[in-house]
Amino acid sequence: MSVQFTYGAKGHEAEAIVRFISRGELQGEGSEPAKWVHPQLDEALRGHFERELFKAEPKETLSLPTLGLLPAAYVIYVGVAHSGLTVDGLRDAAAAAAKAARRLKVATVAQQLPIAVCTGSMEYTVSQAAQAMTEGYSLGLFTRKTEKQNDEKRYASVQAVSFIPAEDASGYPEAAEQWEAGIRRGVVFAEAVKYARDLTNLPGNKLTPELLAEEAEELARTYSLDCEVLDEWTAAEQGMGGLLGVGQGSVNPPRMIVLHYQGAPEDKEVWGLIGKGITFDTGGISLKKAEGMEEMISDMGGAAAVLGAMRIIGETRPAVNVVAVIPSAENMPSDRALKPGDVLKTMNGLTIEVVNTDAEGRLVLADGLTTAIRRGATKLVDVATLTGAVMVALGNVATGAVSNDEALQQQVILASKRAGERIWPLPAYPEFRKQLDSDAADMKNSGGRLGGTITGGLFIGAFAEEKPWVHLDIGGTAWLERERSWESKGATGVMVRTLGELLV
Ligand code: BES
Ligand code: MN
Ligand code: ZN
Repeated sequence: MSVQFTYGAKGHEAEAIVRFISRGELQGEGSEPAKWVHPQLDEALRGHFERELFKAEPKETLSLPTLGLLPAAYVIYVGVAHSGLTVDGLRDAAAAAAKAARRLKVATVAQQLPIAVCTGSMEYTVSQAAQAMTEGYSLGLFTRKTEKQNDEKRYASVQAVSFIPAEDASGYPEAAEQWEAGIRRGVVFAEAVKYARDLTNLPGNKLTPELLAEEAEELARTYSLDCEVLDEWTAAEQGMGGLLGVGQGSVNPPRMIVLHYQGAPEDKEVWGLIGKGITFDTGGISLKKAEGMEEMISDMGGAAAVLGAMRIIGETRPAVNVVAVIPSAENMPSDRALKPGDVLKTMNGLTIEVVNTDAEGRLVLADGLTTAIRRGATKLVDVATLTGAVMVALGNVATGAVSNDEALQQQVILASKRAGERIWPLPAYPEFRKQLDSDAADMKNSGGRLGGTITGGLFIGAFAEEKPWVHLDIGGTAWLERERSWESKGATGVMVRTLGELLV
């Protein structure tokens, strides 16, 4: 079903040939005719460039029929940066090529590789280039699964991509092995992202907390991970007042989902990954407005990111220990729902005055962090569609971070740079914490509008019990109104690859 990737001089019989091209190459005044793909086609490319019909801007494509000049039916030229092509630029260019190929309805693509991409550059290693280009093709071809678009239809276009090494790369025999390793990693990472997107795109009636738990159990079976699912009765025994409070308004009961992976039994460090798993967020009694509420099917995007990361871990079996925790509930208004003014007691004993039932993510995550710590986590990363405010601050461009540990935060940000996913740290000044002071309990669950992403993060941090902790607010990045390069419209699967780069 998914695209086949190969590396090597084969693949020349593909239906389309892809060649990256920069403005610099096109401006070259060389007197001899260029040979990028074929003299006549290259001349046509130059003509388009000279008349400014194709400017070789990054991600811009020019598709030309080969009219019998080559065995391939089409050539696709893809603009890339004039100087300093980066691994992000390669991922973008590959996604642009994939979409151009899909528009041409070709099944097979031969991607010619620039020499630097075959042998590595200042900017990237060979396997990083291979991984990024594989991710770009694979993710760029993703479309949402719906009733109308089943798997057969949505993967009907490009079936195979072969990466063709530059001729002058023959003096670098290690390249093949590194390319193959990069492709393998790229496939694992991309498939995990697509898995997370599919989960996140499921509507609320197709994905309840119970069904999300079954999904996690299925994943655990596939990769021989340990899985615990705590139902509402067990959660009550363990004092998970935050999770139960949020879930109590719905006929679909909440679940606390825990996955364990032990890849380094001698190591005392255990990563705790906690993902917000609100399968639908109406806001509860503090009801959201109707417009756009359907997007709240994506309020389990953090849970999907964590499950996607566990899939990467299951595939690659790295030498790390992980406990993944997904507190899952449906946030509904009803006669038995949580009300503003209610006071809850969380699993670690802190009491919370609920001033806004729409600030539900932090309530379930509070018990999520405690669950991870009780099961041995020594450092914590939570991923959550926590606030709308993060969109005001960072748009849909960057994920916001709040942390109590500069070193861990830097480690996560470095991983995100390898993944090409943006994370921006927000200041966690102590003044913000005061906005959560309550007369009725230890804390209230909303600090108001000012600094909403930071106060939301700091609420969660109050449950970190002094362990290094990073909170990633994907409220702006988990869902897109329109596609953008390798990110699809709807669920993006953001943070799957960042967590993958962090742990694998
Ligand atoms: N899931 C939402 C945040 C959200 C909104 C993410 C829109 C993406 C798009 C979250 O549960 C929420 O409702 N947060 C409130 C917090 C407030 C009440 C303190 C918000 O952002 O308005
Ligand atoms: Mn909410
Ligand atoms: Zn929410």
